[in-house]
Amino acid sequence: MSQSLVDSIARIEAKARAAIAAATGADALEELQRIERAVLDKGGELNQILRGLKDLDAAGRRDAGQAANESKERLAAALAERRRALADGAIAAALAAERIDPTQPGPRRAPGHEHPVKAVMRELDDLFESMGFTVVDGPEVETDFFNFEALNIPPNHPARDAQDTFYVEGDNVLRTHTSGMQVRAMRKYGAPLRLVAPGRVFRNETQDAGHEHTFHQLEGLMVDEGISIGHLKGVLEQVLARLVGGEVRTRLRPHYFPFVEPGLELDFQCRICGGAGCSTCKRTGWIEICGCGMVHPKVLAAGNVDPEKYSGFAFGLGIDRLTMMRHAIPDIRWLMSGDLRFLRQFK
Ligand code: DAH
Repeated sequence: MSQSLVDSIARIEAKARAAIAAATGADALEELQRIERAVLDKGGELNQILRGLKDLDAAGRRDAGQAANESKERLAAALAERRRALADGAIAAALAAERIDPTQPGPRRAPGHEHPVKAVMRELDDLFESMGFTVVDGPEVETDFFNFEALNIPPNHPARDAQDTFYVEGDNVLRTHTSGMQVRAMRKYGAPLRLVAPGRVFRNETQDAGHEHTFHQLEGLMVDEGISIGHLKGVLEQVLARLVGGEVRTRLRPHYFPFVEPGLELDFQCRICGGAGCSTCKRTGWIEICGCGMVHPKVLAAGNVDPEKYSGFAFGLGIDRLTMMRHAIPDIRWLMSGDLRFLRQFK
């Protein structure tokens, strides 16, 4: 009787050992716990055997009891050993997976470069500074007064229709042009005066190859005694020739702007089609690049400059279009597209 109990104990132990050895993979720890409960816990197989000892004689009780206790100890040790091995393996695997190689080179960041529009703006600043102009900065959210009224464009004036405007809170607009800087600057610096004011401008406009809702201008203003259209032409020709280089064909034609008298527009022969006409130049062969003229006496007066004593010229250069002509870019929308395949060409 005791011998058959000892045999059962040996069988239970052998089966449990096999199960312990077989416990691998993600569920191994749960499996070990299950084995422990089934075999070693109070209600487990080995304790059930011990409960049967009371039917044996003293020697049988001793042999079987001893066999069961020794078996429990060995299995507990086997479980502990297996758990340790699993933990070691998990740590080793994690270490191997997360190992850092300090000799590996870091991720390379390609150095950036100037946006083609920004490059033109910077070069224009340099060119004008070399001719004695000061570069000034102005607000993108502008008052109705400086953007329109001070420039001889009162409320309800039809000239407002030419610039689809984003009106914002209060009496403000997103500036539709940089011309608002003319009266601001005259009030601040007085005459004589030579300055340029580059920056972003906004129009609530339908986009196409030649139009964007957000674009860039550079306002120029020169006020002094005896300033004429000859000075205007000379300055613009100098700048365009130095900026775009090569053969530059331009034309000046009369155009109405409320804040200049006379008013003119400077066109660039389209570099996309060479003047033959294309979608970029609306089939005219010319691209309007700059409004300009002699500052209107009312505008000088609004800037607290005496129109009897002083005269001046002003111009507003379209920087995006200038950039397009410089690089023969057929669509203005590419400039602000953020598409790196496009931008990387201008490294
Ligand atoms: N502000 C005008 C526009 O955005 C351009 C312009 C025309 C600017 C004539 C001037 C100027 O300074 O004299 O359409």
